Amino acid sequence: MKIFRDAAKLQKWSGALRRKGARIALVPTMGCLHEGHISLIEAAKRRGADEIIVSIFVNPVQFGPNEDYAKYPREEKADLKKCRAAGATAVFLPTPEEMYMPGHSVYVDEESLSKGLCGGRRPGHFRGVCTVVAKLFNIAHPDFAVFGQKDFQQVQVVKRMVRDLNFDLDVVVAPIVREKSGLAKSSRNTYLSEKERKMALAISEGLKEFRSLAGLRRRLEKAGLKVDYVECVDSETLAARKRPGRGCTVLVAAYAGSTRLIDNRVF
Ligand code: PAF
Repeated sequence: MKIFRDAAKLQKWSGALRRKGARIALVPTMGCLHEGHISLIEAAKRRGADEIIVSIFVNPVQFGPNEDYAKYPREEKADLKKCRAAGATAVFLPTPEEMYMPGHSVYVDEESLSKGLCGGRRPGHFRGVCTVVAKLFNIAHPDFAVFGQKDFQQVQVVKRMVRDLNFDLDVVVAPIVREKSGLAKSSRNTYLSEKERKMALAISEGLKEFRSLAGLRRRLEKAGLKVDYVECVDSETLAARKRPGRGCTVLVAAYAGSTRLIDNRVF
């Protein structure tokens, strides 16, 4: 497994491989890898990738000033071991300085799908995501990139960016991976106390047994969660829908203590 810290070196390597006809997959991550991330690498293998590049980069630009950038878990050694075991062929581990040179002044902003849901509560978040993902696409030259459905809005925003900016690649979406309890796997689960973990189960259980938006909200509040939003949207346009049905997704963001968790169910 190759390890790159330098964007130009990876760009040269992947560019040469792509010119030779290799099928390259990119799995963008922020590290602290769990089974959800491993499932993205597995999905890349199943789609016949010759090279699987995993990027591990806690992207400062997608965090708000009062968010968890500084405390976001970083586990480089363990992550490299997991990537190797899962069958990644290369890992990209840049520093913030490598990705954002002094005077960096170009950003990518999606102006529609990113404005509600998490984007509405986390101003600038998707501008940061689009910028770093666009950079990773240019650096890694993937034929396809794999994202997890847990970040449902992110997937729609990235797909729109790929369409509107003519990136020559496919966006592949892998299903949510859950703990036995039903809790969606997330690097942020490491922040949860035992009590918060129990509270958090109301999210996956409430989505599974969904009846109405108001009922789901009540269930979350009763469990002790602080609801950020409970919404039903059209899965493509992310426009609000009153009632879920075919082509809709119900999304939840809620705090267990100070940890913000997200989950969703596609109908
Ligand atoms: O989903 C994530 O982990 C991040 O938002 C991503 C796509 C790696 C961009 O930093």
